[in-house]
Amino acid sequence: MMPVGPLMKEHRLIERMIGVMAGSLEEIRKEGKADPCFIDTAVDFIRTYADRCHHGKEEEILFRELAKKKLSQEHRRIMNELIEEHKMGRNNVKKLKAAKESYVRGEEAALKDIISNMEILTQFYPRHIEKEDKHFFLPCMDYLTPKERDKMLEEMGEFDKGMIHEKYTQVVESIGREEA
Ligand SMILES: [Fe+2]
Ligand SMILES: [Fe+2]
Repeated sequence: MMPVGPLMKEHRLIERMIGVMAGSLEEIRKEGKADPCFIDTAVDFIRTYADRCHHGKEEEILFRELAKKKLSQEHRRIMNELIEEHKMGRNNVKKLKAAKESYVRGEEAALKDIISNMEILTQFYPRHIEKEDKHFFLPCMDYLTPKERDKMLEEMGEFDKGMIHEKYTQVVESIGREEA
């Protein structure tokens, strides 16, 4: 399997979650209220799965190795755009979480920030994924030798193995901080 294989598989799950979020966004608009528990789940999915696990492998393994190669101008430009888009996604998730917290405190006006950030995220992710799937991942495999591809795939597996421990170490540490 190509090292972009697992990444493309992860795109399919991210797309499913984005579809669920788009449905929830419609409900929020129709009913004029949001479900904070759903937003918590969506924020956790995006932060842990889409950002740490998925973008983590893209940035810390795939892009890191591609940055060492003599990329075409177009591929270099796309890679930089993808990195910027990851940053934008992180920023919107942060804003979505903050808006949810204000909303839970009773600030009704925060609903419009929940809506606008969910709107940005549900529009941004499908475009970002399409750019990677159709214009970047496969052509970029040509820069790697078969040996480099195998090594990358193995490193991605190792990265994933560490994720569950990292996630729950963070959970315990954040509880520890709240109790302190
Ligand atoms: Fe990405
Ligand atoms: Fe991706």
